[in-house]
Amino acid sequence: MALKWWKKAVVYQIYPLSFQDSNGDGIGDLKGIISRLDYLKNLGVDVIWLSPVYQSPMDDNGYDISDYLSIDPIFGTMDDMKDLIKVAHEKGLKLIMDLVVNHTSDEHIWFKEARSSQDNRYRDYYIWKDEPTPIGSVFGGPAWTYDETSKQYYFHLFSKRQPDLNWKNKELRQHIYQIVNTWLDMGIDGFRLDVIDLIGKDVDRFQLSDGPYLYPFLQELYDTCFKDRDIMTVGEMPGLSIERARDITEKGLLDMVFQFAHVGLDEMPGQGKWALKPLDLVEFKKVFTRLQHLMYQKGWNSLFLSNHDQPRVVSRYGSLEYRKESAKMLATVLYGMQGTPYVYQGEEIGMTGIRFSSMDQYRDIETKQIYQILKNEGLTEESIMASIYAKSRDNSRTPFQWDQTKHAGFTQGNPWIDVNPNYLEINAQHDVQDSHGVFQYYKDLFALRKKLDVFTEGDFRLLHQEDQELFMYERHHEDQHVLVIGSFANRERNITLPYQNMSLLISNDHAVEIKPEMKIPPYFACIIRIGG
Ligand code: GLC
Ligand code: CA
Repeated sequence: MALKWWKKAVVYQIYPLSFQDSNGDGIGDLKGIISRLDYLKNLGVDVIWLSPVYQSPMDDNGYDISDYLSIDPIFGTMDDMKDLIKVAHEKGLKLIMDLVVNHTSDEHIWFKEARSSQDNRYRDYYIWKDEPTPIGSVFGGPAWTYDETSKQYYFHLFSKRQPDLNWKNKELRQHIYQIVNTWLDMGIDGFRLDVIDLIGKDVDRFQLSDGPYLYPFLQELYDTCFKDRDIMTVGEMPGLSIERARDITEKGLLDMVFQFAHVGLDEMPGQGKWALKPLDLVEFKKVFTRLQHLMYQKGWNSLFLSNHDQPRVVSRYGSLEYRKESAKMLATVLYGMQGTPYVYQGEEIGMTGIRFSSMDQYRDIETKQIYQILKNEGLTEESIMASIYAKSRDNSRTPFQWDQTKHAGFTQGNPWIDVNPNYLEINAQHDVQDSHGVFQYYKDLFALRKKLDVFTEGDFRLLHQEDQELFMYERHHEDQHVLVIGSFANRERNITLPYQNMSLLISNDHAVEIKPEMKIPPYFACIIRIGG
């Protein structure tokens, strides 16, 4: 069977609010995105994943949809959306949209109807109870909120303005499939499915992720919408095991999955994302190794470290002192593996996290909620802010840094969230022109991935498993044999490379000569071809 196109593709995530404003209202929009497509083309991107642009009250920045078939006016019009699809396609770029169907906004007409009375015909589109059960919401606080009008509690795994849909209702499912097919018929190339591991839940039995109905509903969605279309689908599945992720992609219900086994490794186990601990690289390597082995010739991986929910990876796992080196190193070890690469806007120029001095500057609902919750629990301001600096989702949501002009070229007006003051130094214009910039490195790395099949098809063998600072692995495919090296150390290291015939394919420091016994500088990374 021919290789699926999405196995060789590079996906770039756009967070529309923060990418490019075109009309000076301080909010990124569709016209802004269209004006930047050449930039993405230049990077070597194949697919754009657009975070939600549907009509929304923006309680959770668009992940709370009030109408699936309209574009929110802050982003533009339906014509702008059609334009974006058209222009992207003309440039050879595909476009996938975010599909948020675990919940809607409380302003969706279904919910407005449903909450109007217990016998409303949309009542059963949502999940109701007379008494709440002990389930917490992902953003903190209870997952049940009392509705005064209809005198019952409704269920919401995220904010109380994001009521969960009841997928057990057949009519609701048909409605959703119609929406999905409408968008696909409009010519988009697939979907990223938001927290799709939750749709099969059984609230009564406390089974949320990977619930008893997950497979049947995914199968039905596939049969009704995805089958027979040349699209790509990626399911966000935070609660799913790696084995399940493999099974779902192997069956082809979804083409790939975002799983999160590698994501929480800088958190105290079982204490949630705000309780910090340093990254254990040995653990990190172990998780990726398991993934690479499990998926090999079976399922398919998505390769990501960053997105709009995760802090900027340079600040998280790299080094601000060695910013460019560590940004390139992280890309090398990540994209050297098997799977489809995902880049989150700004990652390709090494954008960093943010430390706002006042809580008023934060915009993210999760950050605001957790601040209050931790405050009420009696934590000190200092420790709360340490967690927020490390983990707030606003770290990755500050405006894209295009150039040195006011507000980093993002907007002529007042940005909806403050620009990171380091934009004078870190910006695309500067980085793209720099032959040692992060952008050029990403570009070279993606070109290399496309040239050698070993990156898409090869097996994976971890080396120096117990080394706390080095991430090193080999990959083989037919006559292609490569070695990927990344150092997480902020000091010089010695390494031994017991190979004949080594040739350098890419490196983040060309002053370093490749030889059997070598000293490597902090955050060094390279890929070597072995045996010619
Ligand atoms: C996903 C999204 C996140 C959102 C949540 C609820 O995790 O990526 O941004 O808050 O789902 O829709
Ligand atoms: Ca705008």
